[in-house]
Amino acid sequence: MDLLVRNIGRLLPMGDRPGEVIEEAALRIESGLVSWVGPESQLAAGPEMPELDAQGAVGVPGFVDPHTHLVWAGVRREEFVARLAGEHYDGGGINTTVDATRAATADQLFDLAADRGRRMIANGTTTIEIKTGYGLTPADELKSLDVIGRLAVDLPWSVEATYLGAHVVPRGRNRAEYVDEVIATIPAAAAADATWVDVFCDEGVFTIDETRKILRAAADAGLGTRLHAEEIAHTGAAELAAEMGCASADHLEHVTPNGARAMASAGVVGVLLPTVTLSLRTFAFGQYQVLRDAGVPLALSTDCNPGTSWCESMPYVVQLACLVYGMPVHEALWSATRGGAAALRRDDVGHLSAGACGDLALLDAEHEADLVARLGAPACATTVIGGQVWQDDASRRVNR
Ligand code: NIG
Ligand code: FE
Repeated sequence: MDLLVRNIGRLLPMGDRPGEVIEEAALRIESGLVSWVGPESQLAAGPEMPELDAQGAVGVPGFVDPHTHLVWAGVRREEFVARLAGEHYDGGGINTTVDATRAATADQLFDLAADRGRRMIANGTTTIEIKTGYGLTPADELKSLDVIGRLAVDLPWSVEATYLGAHVVPRGRNRAEYVDEVIATIPAAAAADATWVDVFCDEGVFTIDETRKILRAAADAGLGTRLHAEEIAHTGAAELAAEMGCASADHLEHVTPNGARAMASAGVVGVLLPTVTLSLRTFAFGQYQVLRDAGVPLALSTDCNPGTSWCESMPYVVQLACLVYGMPVHEALWSATRGGAAALRRDDVGHLSAGACGDLALLDAEHEADLVARLGAPACATTVIGGQVWQDDASRRVNR
């Protein structure tokens, strides 16, 4: 698709570092890719193409959300309310979602996930990573991968599929046998288009040794690796992510300076999930400083899931990162775009230089600081994916 976007009040193209702003900008997209970006006053005559007036809005690359669990059925409201009353999160509720997800058909799971996906795109997300992890039998995990494959085709965004068979040991299973089953399922997951393997490596979930075994098998099968790390307690999962060359270690509420330094030297991206940090109600907000001081590249993500983060909005995640962690506005927006792309090892998205994907979020704000200051309002006015303006077909929504 071709599109000329004019009258962008402030365009943040997301180069190698946060902070660059082009005022009064224009952006030309040809055959789905950015062909020119700069001040509109320097726009040269070009081929005829459809035009979009951004009406002075702030423009950023489409958000890249590198950690979601979009394929689930059922609800966890009792657990959420119990946590509000002081209950501790230990990952045990995952099995509640597993029961409901196993009971759902692939079509039902697809409708639920696609509905969430359409709202995410309306909120400016154009690239997303989606994990399995609520099936936890080979057949149910492959059913989720099938749903993820359909989400990649039916919606216009770019999707990365992750096999998370090691989300929790399912009820009634022997843990050593289950770990072996997860490992044995990796080739089938790869054949079903998973490109990543993730493990919930944490206290009460999978140990460091079990995780290392699963990650080795993933690497042997040619898949990339990423980790849920240091969410519930400090276990050394950040150090393991560095040792194993994972693309990212995510959560990190309990990361230590040592773990952060190991991540920085190994080039592991730290994915911060501020909605989860809030939802856990442990009020451990210090991980941003620890990671920043060690020089770890950072990404932000919704972690959209039914237990700890029912969130479909990257702009809301940006707001929370600023308000909860004290992240500067430009750094938060960079982490939500270019940082997310780095977490997925993608260089074609998350920025708006010539040659990048023509994915753009026009924010309902005349300055990026207003995006963070104005709470509770819809934040994304228009989403463009590959040069096409996203128009939701509300009649298809199942709204759950
Ligand atoms: O990223 N931490 C593990 N997985 C999810 C939560 C899953 C759940 O509780 O259903 C997370 O927070
Ligand atoms: Fe997660």
